[in-house]
Order: sequence, then C-alpha cells, then structure tokens
Amino acid sequence: VDQYAVFGNPIEHSRSPDIHHAFARETDQSLAYGKQCVPVDDFTQAAVQFFADGGRGLNITVPFKLEAYQFADTLTKRARQAGAVNTLAVQADGSILGDNTDGIGMVSDIVDHLGWSLAGRRVLVLGAGGAVRGVLGPILAQQPSQLVIANRTSAKAEALAKAFTADIAVVGCGFERLDGHQFDVVINGTSASLAGDLPPLPATLLATEGKCYDMMYGAEPTVFMRWAQQHGAASVSDGLGMLVGQAAEAFALWRDVRPSVAPVIEVIRAELT
Ligand code: ATR
Repeated sequence: VDQYAVFGNPIEHSRSPDIHHAFARETDQSLAYGKQCVPVDDFTQAAVQFFADGGRGLNITVPFKLEAYQFADTLTKRARQAGAVNTLAVQADGSILGDNTDGIGMVSDIVDHLGWSLAGRRVLVLGAGGAVRGVLGPILAQQPSQLVIANRTSAKAEALAKAFTADIAVVGCGFERLDGHQFDVVINGTSASLAGDLPPLPATLLATEGKCYDMMYGAEPTVFMRWAQQHGAASVSDGLGMLVGQAAEAFALWRDVRPSVAPVIEVIRAELT
C-alpha cells in the first residue's frame, strides 16, 4: 500500500496518523500513514530515505518546514508565499512537489466549516511568525476589506505586511496601535497561548458580531478564546479545524479525492485530553 508519514520533532502527540486514516476509511482509499521523529540535524537524509523506499508523501511539522521548503524540487504558489512547506508529494515524473496547506486549511475551517465570512470584513491577525506568514495569502484571497497584522515586535509585522501587498493595504503594527480600531474577525497566530499569555488587546477591539479564531487548540479554551468570550465575541473557535483542514488539503493533493472534515473534527475533538 502507498506509504505516507509526518516528520517532526517532537512527534509523539501528532494526531496526523489518526486524521489521515479516518480520511482513508471515509474515502475508501488504501494507504498507510506513520509518524517519524526525525533528529533535528537529519531532515534531508530522512526525507531522501523515505522517498527512496517508495514513500508517496510527507507532512512536515515543527521544526522542519523551512528545510522541507529547501528540499522540494518545485513549489506551489502558496508554498512560496508562505516561505514554508508542510506537505511533500511525489509527482508523476518522480520529482518532489512542496506545498503549504496550513493557510487554506485555516481559511476553509473559518469560511466553509464555521461559516464565518472573511470577504469584505476587517480582519486582524495577531503575531508575525512562521504560522502567520503561512495564512496571509489564503486570507487575502478571500478579499477582506482590511488586513492588519499586529505583533509584539512591530518591525516584524511591518516587514510581513510589506511582503504581502495586495489589492487592499496590508498594515503591520504593534499592539499599541490597535487602540480605537475595531475588527470583524480576529485571528490569534501568536504562540503566546502556549505559555498561557495573552497579547495586550484593547477591550473595544471587537466589532458587533465580531468573531475570534485561535490557531492553537487543546482540551480547554485558550486564554485568547476566554478573552474573546469576555469581550462580546459572537463566535469563538480554536484551531482544531485548521489541523484537520490542512490534513484534508494534503490528502486531496496526494489522493485526488476530497474527504469531509466535520466528522473527523468531531472524532479528534472527543479524544483531546
Ligand atoms: P510560529 O512558527 O508559531 O509562528 P514563531 O515564528 O517563533 O513561531 O512566532 C511566534 C509568534 O508569537 C511571534 O509573532 C511572537 O512575537 P515576537 O515576534 O514579538 O517574538 C509571538 N509571541 C510569542 N510569545 C508571545 C507573547 N507572550 N506575547 C505576545 N506575542 C508572543
């Protein structure tokens, strides 16, 4: 059977094998999907070996997304925009395609699964690291009326905004510049939640019907999700649907069939501890 895997370090807690096996059952595809903890200095060697052994595709997670970008023979437009690769796929001619499905996975969770619109909305993204860079292209493709990137280190947000000039102005700034502004959708892409921290956000940040999305997920709501609930958010979501969504896009690239995400999100949600 066709072999797939996720490479990362650490990888123990990865849900990707469960997600892809659920997709395979649902779409009647026969495949095997494993997880491999790759030594931090051994990515290229491990990837060469995987494909030499007949592997058909890889998902790539922390800390190898930049190395996977270098490793790929060709890149999709969204991978180039993201500057990182989370999916590798063997092409018909044997070459390796690098894609990035994180951003489209998040946007399809927000737009298709949660049913929030980004089109014509004022969108604020918190953070300016690799995770945020990966989602900006797909957010802009939804044609928001405004896109602001706010970060603790404002220079990083400004640099990122410059790299993503679109039909609309993309603005990068520090959190202090948010005072007096309101947004329809606020997406937290900082890693602050991991430490139980919250960026300093003005109490009036959310517009009426404002919605909040955290790219992180866990058994409990994140600090950002609790902040959103306390400040009148009309809807709040964590990023579990993004995890399943990016996997669905990778699965579609590999197998040319699109699994439905909702039942799999429910299964993985029930298993979160
Ligand atoms: P990732 O790949 O998860 O994006 P990263 O590239 O290290 O990781 O980026 C982490 C992001 O979270 C950055 O935007 C970082 O802000 P700085 O650029 O100022 O470092 C942000 N971040 C991390 N801890 C934070 C905290 N406690 N408060 C606010 N922002 C934080």
